[in-house]
Amino acid sequence: MGDRVTSAVLPFLSDVLYAALRAAGWEKRGEIVRLVQTLKGGDRPKNAEGEFPGVAVMPRSAWEPWGIFRKPLDGRVQDNLRRWNTGGLRRESDERPFTDVIPSERTPRQERKIADHPSLKPQRFMRQIVCAALPLGKGRILDPFLGAGSTIAAAEAIGYESVGVELDEHYYAIAEKAIPQLAKLYPKLGTGSKSAQAPAVMFDWKEANQTHDTAPTETEIVEQESLVPGQEMIQL
Ligand SMILES: C[S@@+](CC[C@H](N)C(=O)[O-])C[C@H]1O[C@@H](n2cnc3c(N)ncnc32)[C@H](O)[C@@H]1O
Repeated sequence: MGDRVTSAVLPFLSDVLYAALRAAGWEKRGEIVRLVQTLKGGDRPKNAEGEFPGVAVMPRSAWEPWGIFRKPLDGRVQDNLRRWNTGGLRRESDERPFTDVIPSERTPRQERKIADHPSLKPQRFMRQIVCAALPLGKGRILDPFLGAGSTIAAAEAIGYESVGVELDEHYYAIAEKAIPQLAKLYPKLGTGSKSAQAPAVMFDWKEANQTHDTAPTETEIVEQESLVPGQEMIQL
């Protein structure tokens, strides 16, 4: 297993999660900014909207933090890479290291049709995160909160071994069906080969960084986030 934890969280809660991970002995190594338009935040004060029409209680989030943590190293980075195949992030290319701001999109409709889960993450984004998580392309990706399987599908597409764990039987059944279908999408963004070795050809990063989003309407976001119109994501 790799030693790295990457977790998505709401911007206003990230410090709570990060403090817990640090308390559990993990080191923070950075934070990925997933640029994505959401409906989180931006609401007027609840039940006083008319009185304070010009106030937003919290900013409307146009990004999602993904903390990067690792277990404290056993020796130098190079020692860990040799011994455990871990200790760093896989580069995008010789010219460009993995970089922490990733333009993204709301999960496309075709992926949501395949995998009906309220928190499904998009393949374009997940494949970048998953690819980076194994610096030498060796080891195994673990997603202990599988959901509908976007992480495991990304690992399949790239050719990494992976394991997922899901508490909810309904979501587990969805994931079982969805993973092979999600993994087949976007052939340019995957190697399609199962190999314990680093795949010789990585996927096309420029293609992966494409976003196909135009600014979403609130109706589209509501549909995406599985809310009913009028329901708020965060109640304050
Ligand atoms: C935020 S969702 C993950 C969504 C996933 N990233 C995807 O794209 O489909 C978290 C999932 O973790 C599951 N879960 C919550 N607690 C769990 C636990 N203790 N063990 C395993 N799964 C758990 C929930 O049922 C939920 O499906």
